[in-house]
Order: sequence, then C-alpha cells, then structure tokens
Amino acid sequence: MSGEFRTVGVVGLGTMGTGIAEVLARHGLRVIGVEVDEAAVVRARDLLRASTGRAVERGKTSPAERDELLSRIEIGCDFARLAPVELVIEAVPEHLALKREVFAQVDRIVAADAVLATNTSSLSVTELAVATENPRRVVGIHFFNPAPVQGFVEVVQTVVSEQQVVDDVVALVRRLGKEPVVVGDKAGFIANALLFGYLNHAVTMYEQKYAAREDIDAAMRLGCGLPMGPLALMDLIGLDTAYEILDSMYKQGRDRLHAPSPVIKQMVTAGWKGRKTGRGFYTYDTPGSSTVVPDALTPVVASSPERGRSLNVVGVIGSGTMAIGITEVFARAGFEVLVVARGPQQRDRVLAGLAAALDRQVAKGRLDPADRAAVLGRVTVTLDLEDLAPVDLALEAVVEDLEVKRALFARLDRICRPGAILATTTSSLPVIDCAAATTRPQDVVGLHFFNPAPAMKLVEVVSTVSTAPEVAAAAVEIARRLGKHPVSCADRAGFIVNALLFPYLNDAVRMLAAHYAQADDIDRAMKLGCGYPMGPFELLDVVGLDVSLTIERVLYEEFAEPGFAPSPLLEHMVTAGYLGRKTRRGFRTYA
Ligand SMILES: NC(=O)c1ccc[n+]([C@@H]2O[C@H](COP(=O)([O-])OP(=O)(O)OC[C@H]3O[C@@H](n4cnc5c(N)ncnc54)[C@H](O)[C@@H]3O)[C@@H](O)[C@H]2O)c1
Repeated sequence: MSGEFRTVGVVGLGTMGTGIAEVLARHGLRVIGVEVDEAAVVRARDLLRASTGRAVERGKTSPAERDELLSRIEIGCDFARLAPVELVIEAVPEHLALKREVFAQVDRIVAADAVLATNTSSLSVTELAVATENPRRVVGIHFFNPAPVQGFVEVVQTVVSEQQVVDDVVALVRRLGKEPVVVGDKAGFIANALLFGYLNHAVTMYEQKYAAREDIDAAMRLGCGLPMGPLALMDLIGLDTAYEILDSMYKQGRDRLHAPSPVIKQMVTAGWKGRKTGRGFYTYDTPGSSTVVPDALTPVVASSPERGRSLNVVGVIGSGTMAIGITEVFARAGFEVLVVARGPQQRDRVLAGLAAALDRQVAKGRLDPADRAAVLGRVTVTLDLEDLAPVDLALEAVVEDLEVKRALFARLDRICRPGAILATTTSSLPVIDCAAATTRPQDVVGLHFFNPAPAMKLVEVVSTVSTAPEVAAAAVEIARRLGKHPVSCADRAGFIVNALLFPYLNDAVRMLAAHYAQADDIDRAMKLGCGYPMGPFELLDVVGLDVSLTIERVLYEEFAEPGFAPSPLLEHMVTAGYLGRKTRRGFRTYA
C-alpha cells in the first residue's frame, strides 16, 4: 500500500493510546480503538473526554470542534472492528509477549497491505515484526507523552521494514503537525536512550536520600530550564511503564545505569504507578489528575531561623563573573557587601562590571535609577582579606583550584568572627575539603550559584558531613532572602544539577560517536520530544567542551561508574581545541 492513511486503529487506549487517538482525530482521521474489556473502554472514553475538555477550557478548541473530534473516535473491545483500517498503532503495556499477541491478533484481521506500528519505547521492533505474517509492513511510531502536545515522533525502521511503509508513516507524522526522525531499532531509540538513564539516576538520588524529591525536581527545572523535574516526569510517564522501559533497555544494552532503581519496582508493586493511580513520587488529588497534594514527605517550610535574619553583612572573595554576579544579587537584596579583590586591576573590574550590570537593568526598566545608586552604595571593594573580620557570611568565588580554596579557608578561619558562616561557591570540588582547612567545619557550607547569578533562580545549598544543621538552615534562609530558590543536597561531586546533567550529555556524545543518530536529530529529539530548551550538543557548545570534560572527569573519579567515563570523542575534540562557541568550533561551527 502506498498513500494517505484515512482510518487508523489504535490498540490500547491508556496514557499514550488516548493521546494518539486524539491527535489522529484532530487531524481528520477516523480512529477505531480497541481496549481489553468494557471497563477499559469506559475508562478510555473518560480519559478522552477529560483531555479534550481541558483543551476547550484552555480555549484551544471550541466545544463544537471537540464534539466533532470525539465523533471520529470509536472505541470497543472487539478486534474484528479493525478490519477496515489501513494502519494499526498498538499502545498496550510495555511487555514483549503481550505486544506480540496483539500483533498476531491484528494480523489475522486487517488487510494484507495494512501497516502495523508499535508505540513501544524500548522493546525491539524487529522482534515484534518477525512475529507477524509480513515483517516488512511493521515499523515503530514512537510518540512522546503527552502525545497531543509533544511535537516529535521517532519512526523506527527495522532492517526488514519496507521503505514505502516508512515513507508513508513519515508523511502521516508530518500531516499530524509533528516532526519525524527515522531511526534504527535500538533500545530507547534517541530520546529515551538519553532520558531514562537520567531519570533512573534521579530516582537513585531520591532513594539514597541525597536530596528531597521537591529539591531534585526544582534543581533540574530551575538549573537547566527543563519543563518538569525528573520525578514529576516519572509520575507522568507512569512508574510501571518507566520500569519496563528501563528493564528492557538494561537487558538489551547491559548498561548498569539503566538497571531500574529498586524503589521503582517497589512502588509499582504497591500500586503507586504515578499520576494514573493518584500516587507515585508525589500524591495527586485523584487518579489521573496533575494536581499535587501534600503528603507525609511534603516539606514544611521551616520559617526563618533567627540566624538567617540577623545576617546582614556579607564578604565576597573574588573578582570574576560569579563574584560580580553574586555581589549584585546580595547588594540588590539589601545586604552590605564587602568584596575582596586581589589587586587594583581586579578591583576596577568588579566596580566596572557591577556598574555595567546595573546600567543594563536600569535600561531594561528592571531597576529604578535611584535604587541603582543605593545598590552601589552598599558595595565596598577592598584589597585586604583582613577587612572581612566583622562579616556574618564570607562567600568565596575564586578560581576552581582546591589548593587555592583551602589556603583561603584557612585564612578566613583566622580572620572571620566566631559564628560567621564560611561558604564556597565551587561547582565541582568537595566542600568538606574547604571545611577541613578550618577549625570550624560546622560553619562551612556550599552555596552553589548558577551563571549568570542575577538571572538564575537556583542555589544549591551543600551540607558536608560536618555542617551544623542550623548553619545549613541559615544558608537556605539567606538564599530565600535573595529571592532565589534554594535546594539542599549532600556534598557529592556535581551536587544535584551537574551530577544529573553531565552523564546525560556524555551519553549523547557516545550516541553520536556510535553513529546511531546525528547531532541535529539528537538535539531535535530532546527539544521537541522532551521539551528541553536546548539539545545536548547546543548546550555542550555553550558550556564549553573543556569545562564539560572536566566535570565529567570529576564525576567519573568520584563515583567510578563505568558509564560516566568521558566519551573518547569529547576528549579528542578538547585535545583538538574544538571547545565550543568560544573557539567558534565545537559540535557545530560558528561564524
Ligand atoms: N507513558 C509514556 O510516557 C510513553 C511514551 C511513549 C511511548 N510509550 C509506550 O506506549 C505504550 C503504552 O504505554 P502507556 O503508558 O500508554 O500504558 P498504559 O498502561 O497507560 O495503557 C495501556 C493500555 O492498554 C490496554 N491494554 C492492555 N492489554 C490490552 C490488549 N490485549 N488489547 C487492547 N488493549 C490492551 C490497557 O487496558 C491500557 O488502557 C508502551 O509500549 C509504552 O512503552 C509510553
């Protein structure tokens, strides 16, 4: 068969199947849905009504359009109803035996030239294909969740899929207003292969109580601009589905990072499958709802410990990008800031940098000219570290070199008043090494700001094994006073954001090096399929390949996790001097 599909069968109308049916019907196709029993038929209809109802509420569809859309979808539980369809998309649970059984049933009913497609996220499409009469008409059509929203579809071509079938499916995907990419049959395809290692890692962090679920999620939303945090996303995907995907990726690739974190199985066994059952990592007001309600794990926002409030004078050590940005943040929040620069040149740089930053804010109308003067009035730049004797908080943002930082902490220990908080904004060094250079490790915390500090809402508050809880609490309070969103975590390489981000970036480089997909397709998969603001290669080029490699090495050294070993391709690019935008050449070439 060649040409346009008009009638499409969808088997299994759960999370994905209902979304796929909605997309097809919205674009004028007739949909014949098949569910397992009458109860499931009713549930599927309810899901469709609820989802299209939300579209009406949001003004995206008129009530008449919605009625017309729903009239194009018929759902029942008899496979014989699929006889007239030209294409069947199965979206039953992620079990190979079940999917093979479904295909065998469909095979007996549909015309010999109808196309059979699976929405599997991770199972081998080839294995499904060979269970049918004509494997050449079998492909994967992998929609992303929620299917009505995500603009990307992976079309999986096996070694036996007929080219005409692939072309027809690609044309259909375009007709649905989505971008197709044709990929080979490898577990997880592009997006899930990159996404699920990261999700599993985030679950492991949660399981190890490294950070709270809200903090893990906020860190990735605010630190990386992701549309959802990983644990909230697991709940949306469905923990049972996520488990099966990870398990099947692990079994195909034997990558330890894909071995499902044990807590996932435990939660699924307990019936906590995510939003669809009303309980997953979070608790929802009803099954299927997206509204989170408080439960036993919901943090009680500890109201400001007195210490946080009495902190008013801050010392910032350093004169680079981070030091200037952090100074601006503190001064704008009303703190008195004493900046320690290494010499007159650095002092001038701080003052000029600060003035320029504030001018930009005034020009954008975000700062009152009168406030500009007040902010500058709160900043004093000194060349003498001894001037920090009276500060309540000393925060260093000097070069990322452990010996330099340790020497600095030893001096701060001597200089600063007893009870002052000593903080580092290191992104990759152990905070405990700074603490151990002092005689008051209980007063040392990490305050990891993101670049540019005035714009980025996130601050990681890092507690070492010796940080006093009240010091960490005061640091959290300070971050709140700055208008930032603090997240708390333990003192491990990469804290939350970098520990989750860089292994994923490394996986993307490994995928490229393996020639599974091109950089453009990988970037598109993550942007359009997962709603990421940038693809991994765009981001690597912005961050700098050398900086990325350093972080990946630190993670690899600390965790000795084989999957974290930096990709040789990245090493070679750094050696060649292809460092990204700053050298005008990285994964892409810039004018
Ligand atoms: N959830 C996601 O984020 C996501 C994203 C992309 C692809 N997928 C893939 O889509 C598929 C479906 O996942 P889901 O999350 O929608 O699962 P789900 O559990 O929400 O829905 C599966 C549906 O299939 C029905 N079903 C079970 N056996 C059946 C049978 N024999 N005949 C007809 N219907 C049957 C169930 O009643 C249920 O309604 C899986 O292969 C999954 O890997 C999921």
